[in-house]
Amino acid sequence: MTKHVHHRSGVCGAGILGVGMAVPSQVVTNADLEQIVDTSDEWIFTRTGIRERRIAGPGEYTSDLATDACRQALSDAEVDAKDIDLVLCATTSGDHLWPATACLVQDRIGAQGAQAVDISAACAGFVYGLQMAGALIQTGAVRKALVVGADTLSRHVDWTDRSTCVLFGDGAGAVALGQVPAGYGLLGSAMGADGSRFGDLLIPAGGTRMPLTPELLAEHKDKLLMHGQEVFKFAVRIMGESCLAALDRAGMTPDDVNLFIPHQANVRIIRAAAERMRLPKERVFTNLDRYGNTSAASVPIALCEAVRMGRVRQNDVLVLVGFGAGMTWGANVVRWSRAEGDGSR
Ligand code: ACO
Repeated sequence: MTKHVHHRSGVCGAGILGVGMAVPSQVVTNADLEQIVDTSDEWIFTRTGIRERRIAGPGEYTSDLATDACRQALSDAEVDAKDIDLVLCATTSGDHLWPATACLVQDRIGAQGAQAVDISAACAGFVYGLQMAGALIQTGAVRKALVVGADTLSRHVDWTDRSTCVLFGDGAGAVALGQVPAGYGLLGSAMGADGSRFGDLLIPAGGTRMPLTPELLAEHKDKLLMHGQEVFKFAVRIMGESCLAALDRAGMTPDDVNLFIPHQANVRIIRAAAERMRLPKERVFTNLDRYGNTSAASVPIALCEAVRMGRVRQNDVLVLVGFGAGMTWGANVVRWSRAEGDGSR
C-alpha cells in the first residue's frame, strides 16, 4: 500500500506537536557497577555527572522502547497513527541488522503505509532526523511525521571495560511533527560530520568488513570502542560551534535561548558548551544523572522531561544539540508553538 501525500506548495513552519519517552524499569546505580568493574561512584560522578542509568531487561528491545515513546508522542499530539506519513528512527542498536527498526515501529503503532527508515548517526541521530523530517514538512512533501531516537547500547558495550561501560544507558524519546504557523517550530539548523574521525568511536566487527568470528568475539571486537579524550575535546568544540551556527541561521543569539537541551553524554561537556554561549545554568537542561548517555534517545528524552516539568512554554526558543560517532553533530533551533492547558497546538 502506498501512501498518497498531496503536496502543498509553499513553505510553512514545521513544529513539535507532541513528545514521548520510554526507559527500561531496571535501574543500575554506580554502586552496582562497583560490583562489576574496578570503579567508584566518586569517579563516575565527578568525571561524568552520572549517578544511575536504565538497562533493558531480557526480552526488552530497541523497537519496544521506540514504539512506547512514539505512542506517547501521538497521544500527546492528539494525532492518529494513520495520519503519519513518515517514521524516522534514529538508532545504532536496532533489533536486527536490517530491516530498519523504523519499519517494526511503523507496523506496531499502526502507521499503515507511512514511509519508514532508520538514521545511523549515533548520538546525533535524533537531531539529524528532526532537521530532515522538519524540512520535508516545510516543503509539504510530508504532512505529519514521527522522529524517534532509540538505543539499547547496553547490548553493545563491553561490560569488562570500565572506561566505557559506566557511561551508557538505554531508552527512547519521540516527537510527533506537523505544520505550525510560520515563525514557529524549526527555525535553523547546523549539521555536519567528520568521517576522518570514525576511528574514535566505533564497533569494529559485525559488519561486512569484519564479519564475526569466534576469535573476534573473544577479543570483544563486537563491542563499542572509544577514545574518550579525543571524543571529549571534539565534543566540547563542536557543541558550542554548531549551536552558535544554528542560532545565526535563525537570526538569533544565545541571549534569545530560553532552554538549552544538549546531548547528555558528560556534564563537563555540557557545561563547556553552555559557557561558550554564556548561558546561565537555569537555562541548561540536564538529566544524565538519572539516565547516563542514552545515545540517540538522549535529546528527545531530555526534551520530553523538560516539557513535562513545565520548563517549556509557548514562544520559548530551544536549542537541541547532539554529537556522536562518525563523528556527527547537529544543532536545531526551535520556537515552541504549543500552548499548555488550552489544547491548542
Ligand atoms: N572508574 C575508575 N577509573 C577509571 C574509569 C572508571 N570507570 N574509567 C577510566 N578510569 C581511569 C583511567 O584508566 C585513567 O587512569 P590512568 O590515569 O591510571 O590511566 C583515569 O581514570 C583517567 O582516564 P581518562 O580517560 O583520562 O579520564 P577522562 O577525564 O578523560 O574521562 C571520559 C573519561 C568520562 C570517558 C571522558 O573522556 C568523556 O566523557 N569523553 C567523551 C565521551 C563521550 O561523550 N562519548 C559519547 C559519544 S556519543 C556516541 O555516539 C555514543
